[in-house]
Amino acid sequence: MAEKVTFKNGKLHVPADPIIPYIEGDGVGQDIWQNAQLVFDRAVEKAYKGSRKIEWLEVLAGKKAFSQSGVWLPDASLEVIKSHLLAIKGPLETPVGGGIRSLNVALRQELDLFACVRPVRYFQGVPSPLKHPEKTDITIFRENTEDIYAGIEWEAGSSQVQKVIEFLQTQMQVQKIRFPESSSIGIKPISIEGSKRLIRSAIDYALAKGLRKVTLVHKGNIQKFTEGGFRKWGYELAQEEYAAELEKGRLVVDDIIADNFLQQILLNPERFDVVALTNLNGDYASDALAAQVGGIGISPGANINYQTGHAIFEATHGTAPDITGQDKANPCSLLLSGCMLFEYIGWKEAADLITAAIEKSFAAGCFTADLAGEAPSYSTSEFAQVLIENL
Ligand code: NAI
Repeated sequence: MAEKVTFKNGKLHVPADPIIPYIEGDGVGQDIWQNAQLVFDRAVEKAYKGSRKIEWLEVLAGKKAFSQSGVWLPDASLEVIKSHLLAIKGPLETPVGGGIRSLNVALRQELDLFACVRPVRYFQGVPSPLKHPEKTDITIFRENTEDIYAGIEWEAGSSQVQKVIEFLQTQMQVQKIRFPESSSIGIKPISIEGSKRLIRSAIDYALAKGLRKVTLVHKGNIQKFTEGGFRKWGYELAQEEYAAELEKGRLVVDDIIADNFLQQILLNPERFDVVALTNLNGDYASDALAAQVGGIGISPGANINYQTGHAIFEATHGTAPDITGQDKANPCSLLLSGCMLFEYIGWKEAADLITAAIEKSFAAGCFTADLAGEAPSYSTSEFAQVLIENL
């Protein structure tokens, strides 16, 4: 009988037939989920010859949930994900209009998924703007819960912002607000705990993968206590918890200012293995890095709380309304997110099979329309069939 994945004493316990919740997603979500699930199941079957199997459990969110229950993110869906620890999801539409928060943000906040993990690598054959895109092989750890994303802001001209500015001027002797009458104000919280748990996860990931270098990316030259704190606490943590690894040379922790980082990933991307960033810098860097390997539409992502085991693996693109229902979408972002899920639960063989099948298909010039350029392209379902043959 299928069982839940559990988390005890800091470790995941994965049965041979785990129940994994999935959110199909809106728009192209349906096209890509159905095809991706076929590939996942065949890869598991092939890797473990029937001794392991995933029991997929559909969880409603987004438009499908709204049309059935009138709610975009039903409490029951959240409860299922909470109690099963893991989920994988397609893209969700953020309904435009007041009062409805992003479902993605809601899921991350509810489960305190503090690390946004994005492995960025090149697949041979994918069009890229760089001469040597294969030199980029970097895993991003973006802090997911703090920074200006906390959403603490007051609008220019509001009575609240007047109070904040008055407080700053009279109580804190702040004289540096250039236009106090017409400024909006935002607050950027960055904490010791928030920084350390993210950087610890990045270091553990690097060590587990046999990677040596963890780089702290920050803007500490300007924002001394927030971004500078992130850097300082990162070095502190490394000394406190990883002294032996540092001494043996198994781990190197260094840092770089965010603007220089954006130059260096273009000039010398091979300098970096794992990078840890605050939330906003991580947002910019994720898209810049994905673009340089041509993978903006195929890069995978996961949002993880390594302390509770909770994790949601997701396609990083949106719902692609322009190609919805046309069997045209590229399923690779979801597929590679699935590979991250398999690695997370220790089923590396299944992940490796899928990754190798994607490599082989791309190398043979088999692409969906988004990557094919002028060449003939494969539909989503044809592409999935090629992958299954290549497993
Ligand atoms: P989008 O990523 O949906 O589309 C941008 C362009 O990329 C379109 O031309 C689309 O056809 C193409 N594209 C995206 N995914 C593709 C795929 N798998 N294969 C081939 N082509 C693909 O971004 P957009 O238009 O800004 O957002 C549409 C909706 O998606 C919005 O409601 C937005 O809130 C939501 N969204 C959801 C995300 C998530 O759930 N993680 C992330 C980004 C946007």
